[in-house]
Amino acid sequence: MLWIVSCLALVASALGCGVPSIPPQVSGLKIVNGQNAVSGSWPWQVSLQDASGFHFCGGSLISQNWVVTAAHCRVTPGRHHVILGEHDRQSNAEPIQVKSISRAITHPYYNSQNFNNDVTLLKLSSPVQITSRVSPVCLATSSTSFPSGTRCVTTGWGKTGTTSSPRILQQVALPLLSPAQCKQYWGQNRITDAMICAGASGVSSCQGDSGGPLVCQSSGVWFQVGIVSWGTSNCNVSTPAVYSRVAYLRGWIDQTVASN
Ligand SMILES: *[C@@H]1O[C@H](CO)[C@@H](O)[C@H](O)[C@H]1NC(C)=O
Repeated sequence: MLWIVSCLALVASALGCGVPSIPPQVSGLKIVNGQNAVSGSWPWQVSLQDASGFHFCGGSLISQNWVVTAAHCRVTPGRHHVILGEHDRQSNAEPIQVKSISRAITHPYYNSQNFNNDVTLLKLSSPVQITSRVSPVCLATSSTSFPSGTRCVTTGWGKTGTTSSPRILQQVALPLLSPAQCKQYWGQNRITDAMICAGASGVSSCQGDSGGPLVCQSSGVWFQVGIVSWGTSNCNVSTPAVYSRVAYLRGWIDQTVASN
C-alpha cells in the first residue's frame, strides 16, 4: 500500500504537476476567515483580469498552455488576461507573467441557471514559462478519490470578512462533504454529479474566488478536486460552498485539451 501511494506521487511529480517549489504552509489555519498564503506557494493559481487590471475571477494552470476556470466567469478572449505568479496584487515588483487568451471553451452542457458543468478551459496565446512560482496543478481523476471529511485547501483574491478584494492571495483549509451531507443544506435537486461541496466549517469561498481551485494533497502531490462555483450570497461560513467536480468533468477536459 505504501509503495502504491509513493509510486503515485512519483508518477504525478514526474508529470510535473502538483508539487510547488515553494512549499505552502497549511498547518494551524485558523477567503472568509482565511489567511495570507506564502508568496509563490500556490504556483497554479491565476488571476483573471480585465484591461483595467480589475480582478474578477481565479483559475488554475493545468499545463503550459491551458488554464481551467468556471464558465460563469464568462471570460472573453481579447478583453481578459491571465496573470500568473502573482501574490500581492498591488506590488509592481513580482515576476508575474501576463498572457492573453486565444480560446475560451465552455463545457457544452454548462447550465447558467443551476451552474451544472460550470467549467471553461482557456487556451493561452503562448505557453507560460515554468518557474518556481508558476507551475501546473494535477487534476483529480475518479481513481484519486478523496473521501468526505478530507481537509483540502481553497485559494483566491475574493471577498474576505474585512475587504471586498484583498491584496494578498488568501488560503483556507476546509473539509470535503459527501453529496448526501451537502444536500441536507441545499436540497435534493440542486446538487448534481458535476458538483462537490466543501466548507460549512467556519470558512467559505466568496465573490471573486470563482473559477479558482479547491485542492487536496496526497503523498505530497496536490490534486485539483474542485473549481469555485457558487454558494450563499453572503458567503455564510456555516453553509457549504459548491465547486465543479473535477473528477466528473475530467473526461471533457482531457478530450478538449487533446483536440485543440
Ligand atoms: C447560515 O447558514 C446556516 C446553516 O445553513 C443557517 O442556519 C443560518 O441561518 C445562515 N445564516 C445567515 C445569516 O444566512
